[in-house]
Amino acid sequence: MKIKRFKKKTILTSLIIAAAVGLSGCSLGAFSDINQPASETKESFPQDENLIVVGISQVGSESAWRFENTQSIQQAFTQKNGFFMVFDNARQRQENQIKAVRSFISQRVDYIVIAPVIEDGWETVLGEAKSAGIPVIIMDRMISVQDDSLYTTHVGTDQKEEGVRAGRWLEDELEKDGRSDEQINIVVLQGTRGSSAQRGRSIGFDMIYETHDNWNVLTQRDGDFTISKGKEEMEKILREFPEFDVLICQNDDMSIGALEVLKEHGITTGINGDVMVISFDATKDGLTCVQNGIINVDVECNPLQGEAIREIINKLEAGEQVEKEYFVDEKVFTIDNVGEYIDSRAY
Ligand code: AHR
Repeated sequence: MKIKRFKKKTILTSLIIAAAVGLSGCSLGAFSDINQPASETKESFPQDENLIVVGISQVGSESAWRFENTQSIQQAFTQKNGFFMVFDNARQRQENQIKAVRSFISQRVDYIVIAPVIEDGWETVLGEAKSAGIPVIIMDRMISVQDDSLYTTHVGTDQKEEGVRAGRWLEDELEKDGRSDEQINIVVLQGTRGSSAQRGRSIGFDMIYETHDNWNVLTQRDGDFTISKGKEEMEKILREFPEFDVLICQNDDMSIGALEVLKEHGITTGINGDVMVISFDATKDGLTCVQNGIINVDVECNPLQGEAIREIINKLEAGEQVEKEYFVDEKVFTIDNVGEYIDSRAY
């Protein structure tokens, strides 16, 4: 424990020196904005040698969901809770994440938390973290590596199960509407290609899709989890496929973009609409669309993961064992239950 304290002091000192000489890099962006909760002053942090230093590589700020996920992390890793957070926003690029992780390693942080943009390509940098003896926690999306000793644990959402839930909802809804045997044409706005959120939701939905010969996916486009890409791709889809029965958007931001386009084209959505809409995330905006009947179902992806990660780090600090995988709780929202939850939804 003594050595660790010395190490923390060294990191904090090097951060201050870096800030003073105005170097660019992941630690400094965090240092000057996200890392500075209003209640804590810059002058106070170097004096506490006991703070646990956590380097966080966040995907970006592509969606309302991501904003909330970042907030959850910030609230968990405060100095009051015994942490010093070094935050990096990767702007949706894996190469930025790899740079950030290398910078965390050279600063000798105590823990590294990564929300990976995409699943593949992590072996080398995680091998470097392992050699440096820094535990890595994977947050939100998952990585794909042969050697699972490269990370300590994963805290996130079961994205394959989310896809299965979407498929099951469609199956039940078509049956209720007496449309089980009709030809059902589907278009899909996928999230960032190669991310576990995109792959998991696609794989999960496909598991149900494959059991229905009358379901037909017309096209799947990469909407990158953003409103603007959702809009752009929806415009393109409509030019090629002016008629379809179901729109699946792999997050609420893309749904919001797509709904705007459909409305402009005079296409109605949701309950009694021309097109059924399946969305993911269950943000306040998404749930409002469910309540207004323009999105049929919103499969929750829970961004509130900060506290769980903090608890895991506290366990590791206490020398306790942790599981290899933790999933946060998630629900499915439709017009039947959204009223119970929407008022308390903060994001
Ligand atoms: O990985 C979680 C996904 O990433 C959320 O569905 C999406 O909104 C975010 O950008």
